[in-house]
Amino acid sequence: MTRSRIISTGSYLPEKILTNIDLEKMVETSDQWITERTGIKERRIANGNQTASELAFEAAKVALERAAMKAEDIDLIITATVTGDMPFPSTACILQDKLGATNAAAFDVNAACSGFLYGLYVADGFIRSGMHRKILVIGTEVLSTITDWEDRTTCILFGDGAGAVIVEPTGEDRGIISMSIHSDGSIWELLHVPAGGSKQPASRESVDNKLHYIKMKGNETFKFAVRTLEDLVIKILSENNLEPSQLSLLIPHQANLRIIQATADRLGLSMDKVLVNIDRYGNTSAASIPIALDEAVTTERIKGGDYILLEAFGGGITWASALIKW
Ligand code: ACO
Repeated sequence: MTRSRIISTGSYLPEKILTNIDLEKMVETSDQWITERTGIKERRIANGNQTASELAFEAAKVALERAAMKAEDIDLIITATVTGDMPFPSTACILQDKLGATNAAAFDVNAACSGFLYGLYVADGFIRSGMHRKILVIGTEVLSTITDWEDRTTCILFGDGAGAVIVEPTGEDRGIISMSIHSDGSIWELLHVPAGGSKQPASRESVDNKLHYIKMKGNETFKFAVRTLEDLVIKILSENNLEPSQLSLLIPHQANLRIIQATADRLGLSMDKVLVNIDRYGNTSAASIPIALDEAVTTERIKGGDYILLEAFGGGITWASALIKW
């Protein structure tokens, strides 16, 4: 049986660090509130020239180098982002040009914070069907460009970054065991950017009213996330006849440390079996999971044969999971 396997990872975080102490000077908040309510201490912010494709380019170069592959070897690029360089063309096409991946098709997926897992799901399907053989899947975000830096309920949460993986077919007993993707469009208003699309095209009024920034009903989103993620992780494990104790590492979307802890508690996992980097990077939306996965690989927290579980939740509302034998 052909499975798809992540053969390589890479990530890139902008150099500029914005700490909670910095935010104390920008909005009515405190390091203590942010740390206790979210687990975030600092986040990275792109400099004005670093677009989503730029961050993606840096992460992709690392993944290609580690796979000892040339950009021309890639036959498909899937980029997950809600902060693409421009409405069109896709950020994947701009990235293709930067990389010189001349033999690839390229497109974006938009599932907000679940975007990387949606992209991986598409890649997994294409690989198992035999339609593509070397796929670059990337999550990249410059959320700082759609953040209202005067809104303390959102500006403390987000950061910029990119993570990349290369997926190939394998005949071995490893790779992506199972994935699931879900959405509930009836509650899209929990998390959205109102203007800039066909519903409310950019206008002087839309800019004056700050409608190009993220709007979030944080508390409702939080409750929905906890409930949904608990069920999600239990379901994918039971469907694959695995006990939580067989997991070597849980790699959750980094949205809020309390959401991560609730999911770990539901699985009975101690926090040393959970990858947490939200303290350093905040919520980087679609980039969060591939950045965390790359950290797990480079710090040797996972080794061949380990079972790992990836899960995410985000705007849409969307949620997704992936069970992988590394
Ligand atoms: N500093 C100080 N006080 C604050 C801040 C702040 N930065 N932000 C809010 N508060 C205040 C509120 O005004 C409120 O005050 P009140 O009680 O006087 O009205 C109080 O703190 C509690 O506010 P809540 O919103 O109820 O706080 P909560 O515990 O829910 O934490 C948070 C807020 C951190 C946003 C949380 O709800 C959360 O993490 N939600 C989920 C976010 C998420 O996962 N999003 C999905 C992914 S994002 C994507 O897809 C792009």
